[in-house]
Amino acid sequence: MNKITAKNYNFSNVKFFTPMQLSEHYNLYTRYIDCLNKVNLEMSYSDTNECNQNYSSTRSAQKSKTFCFDAIKLHELYFENLTGNNTTIYGSISEVIDDVFGSYSNFFEKFKCIALSMRGWVMLCFDKYNGEYYIYGQDSHDDGVMLYAEPLIVLDVYEHSYMIDYGTNRSLYVDVFFENLDFKVVNSRINYLLNLEPKEPPHI
Ligand SMILES: [Fe+2]
Repeated sequence: MNKITAKNYNFSNVKFFTPMQLSEHYNLYTRYIDCLNKVNLEMSYSDTNECNQNYSSTRSAQKSKTFCFDAIKLHELYFENLTGNNTTIYGSISEVIDDVFGSYSNFFEKFKCIALSMRGWVMLCFDKYNGEYYIYGQDSHDDGVMLYAEPLIVLDVYEHSYMIDYGTNRSLYVDVFFENLDFKVVNSRINYLLNLEPKEPPHI
């Protein structure tokens, strides 16, 4: 795997978060990149006699690789849709939410309930397996990942994402996240998946 470098994000229009909260979160993201690059550099498969599922350096490295790589992808999706721009819902995401959840308020209540129930991540996704949209949560970066589920709206609910600004008040943090959610980014993700915008995947 090629070496990965951190992407830059413009948080200048993000409201109700302090620069300290955002910069500390971004710094955490860069450490996942350092981790993945280190694992890829040091991973070896030289002696199969030392490879086993109870304990081996390859096992440890493989576990770290999936943890860190998923953490990188999820944080990039999160930072990308947290801009403070285009915060009024419109377009494909508006149609999807009305069709699937009946109304934006119904969607928000369900999303928030899952956000308060999980330990790591919550997202609205489009599942390519059955062509359905649904909300699901993960307890950690690499625990509960749903195969084929393409993330559309991604919210980090680890405490590190809000503790500096909101203490333990995750409910308020969820509200604030949605006041900064960039629906242009979300629409780009949906339109790409539906082949309405034949271009590079927006999160690459
Ligand atoms: Fe995070």
